[in-house]
Amino acid sequence: MSEEQVKTQIEELKTLLNQYNYQYHVLDKPSVPDAEYDQKLHELIKLEQEYPHLRTEDSPTQRVGGEPLEGFEKVEHRTPMLSLGNAFDDQDLRDFDRRVRQGVGGDVHYVCELKIDGLAVSLLYEEGRFVRGATRGDGRIGENITNNLKTIRSIPLRLKENATLEVRGEAFMPKASFEKLNADREEEGVEQFANPRNAAAGSLRQLDPKIAASRNLDIFVYGAGQYEGRSIDSHSESLNYMSELGFKTNQEWKRCTSIEEVIEYVNGWVERRPDLNYEIDGIVIKVDSLDQQDELGTTVKSPRWAIASKFPAEEVITQLEGIELSVGRTGVVTPTALLKAVQVAGTTVKRASLHNEDLIRERDLKIGDYVVIKKAGDIIPEVVNVIEEKRTGDEQDFSMPENCPECGSELVRIEDEVALRCINPKCPAQIREGLIHFVSRNAMNIDGLGEKVITQLFNENLIQDVADIYELDRNELLKLERMGEKSVDNLLSAIEASKQNSLERLLFGLGIRHVGSKAARTLAENFETIERLQNAESGDLTAINEIGEKMADSVVLYFEKPEVEQLVKHLREVGVNMEYKGLKRSEVEDVDSPFNGKTIVLTGKLQQLSRNEAKAEIERLGGKVTGSVSKSTDLLIVGEDAGSKLTKAEKLGIEVWTEDAFVAELET
Ligand code: IVH
Repeated sequence: MSEEQVKTQIEELKTLLNQYNYQYHVLDKPSVPDAEYDQKLHELIKLEQEYPHLRTEDSPTQRVGGEPLEGFEKVEHRTPMLSLGNAFDDQDLRDFDRRVRQGVGGDVHYVCELKIDGLAVSLLYEEGRFVRGATRGDGRIGENITNNLKTIRSIPLRLKENATLEVRGEAFMPKASFEKLNADREEEGVEQFANPRNAAAGSLRQLDPKIAASRNLDIFVYGAGQYEGRSIDSHSESLNYMSELGFKTNQEWKRCTSIEEVIEYVNGWVERRPDLNYEIDGIVIKVDSLDQQDELGTTVKSPRWAIASKFPAEEVITQLEGIELSVGRTGVVTPTALLKAVQVAGTTVKRASLHNEDLIRERDLKIGDYVVIKKAGDIIPEVVNVIEEKRTGDEQDFSMPENCPECGSELVRIEDEVALRCINPKCPAQIREGLIHFVSRNAMNIDGLGEKVITQLFNENLIQDVADIYELDRNELLKLERMGEKSVDNLLSAIEASKQNSLERLLFGLGIRHVGSKAARTLAENFETIERLQNAESGDLTAINEIGEKMADSVVLYFEKPEVEQLVKHLREVGVNMEYKGLKRSEVEDVDSPFNGKTIVLTGKLQQLSRNEAKAEIERLGGKVTGSVSKSTDLLIVGEDAGSKLTKAEKLGIEVWTEDAFVAELET
């Protein structure tokens, strides 16, 4: 074969494979058996191996994922990727409509689309070829994830016209792929993803594209940025145009001629939402006419011509199969509902905390009952109520036991408390939970020492108290299940590093009753060494503004115990730091920082640091972090997808900073 002939054959194979791919992944209508696709693909791979200079970036062979990257390159979006304002009820939608009609001074048509719960991406095409794909990032600057996006089969590598344009869409993981991925991860003993959205985002942020390739991701394209060539007047036309070009668009969209029709469409989806094989978290409503969109314009954050109508928390029905009891670090016995597995708001729910006996009685729960489950704030599953009509008479009453399910000692109900407690200080469950608390993120933060490893170490009798963690032996650790040389060495260095933590982490980790992480910091700031705290009397403690009598008494009582004295001594001997390393109270007043003395609220998803890290930084610089926006808030720091807090802050005229501005300030 001459090279010209090879070239023609390669082109033919590429066109054919692109067509098969389009029919399978975009139209969902496979046109040939898988074996035929594979055979053609292998033919192409072979030719490309023989003639590597004829291999192009848009070849279907390039989807499987190239070499891992060192890091993601930053890319600037040609037009910012904005987010959307939210509507929570019909009235919010009518208000939106009124604003829009006032803005354009005439009739408006809307396009309603499903709000896919995934990750926003931008796809850039030049002359019909996919040249770059990026994450949204902070809206202005995202990350180049082209190699990962190429692994999504419904993203065309070559369009049906040689168009130059940028489109935007939502990459997501279908529910079934998510379930399978998590089942596999459970088997492998690796942490499961909380929901399909996190799984999609986690997959696309992997440096090795082979991981994304194995994750079965998909995309719906919902918007075209700038494009050359075709003249388009409305969003609905652009959706059609994108389909014509070969993009996968969601077919459920509807053009509505009034806001009442929009409301009907939105409410219809509340019911139908569970039938979809991907997650949605609302409906996006967009003004159809592009001229009207231009006229309305955008705020810094979101377009005035679109809004996201958010769904109320999803409720589902399942069966209460049993109630499990667990003993926490403070001896409190907590009942947990064991549920027949059910999907709620994107995750499988099998358990829900019932908090205490009173709640079980209030809701009149019996084992075997059908119950309504919802996720509070779409995160924590909750049993809402019982469906009495479904009772058969076979349901069984539940009552709390009189003895600790772990150590058998008698449970007590302390005055004013609803909780039942095991007060045996030697109760193994309490000791184990205390150890888990000690190593946790906000306490000593020892990476690699999670609940599972601690339980193993405890069961093997390798640790009895928190000081024993610092005397773990490498050889003993190597004998444990799933502990290779590398993980043991990593674990030992994480343990070693934790010795240098500032005092507040240790104080919080010790689990003194009523001392949360905030109080631990206050104590550390004021007393500076554990020794001074050990010697403090109740009055020394209550002299501090934030410390009340209850906490003061608890701290004094704790340090009076001879076993605590022994433990502190032991921790000192193994080299754990017992001094406060942050700024002292007297120094905080002098800190030269815009956060000093300010009340600050964080909202939205932060990308560059965690909430806790941001909070710690602000506090280190003399600021105070609170949970809700009010007149006394000085500053709001916004991450991605900020919602009502931002709206409120804007209303109150409170200063707003982006995460980037915040991080830049920290770096000065
Ligand atoms: S339009 C400027 N349409 O929702 C308007 N967004 O909070 C940009 N999303 O970041 C968004 N489905 O990730 C639009 N059909 C849809 C969508 C959608 C999901 C996401 C997108 C965006 C977020 C807005």
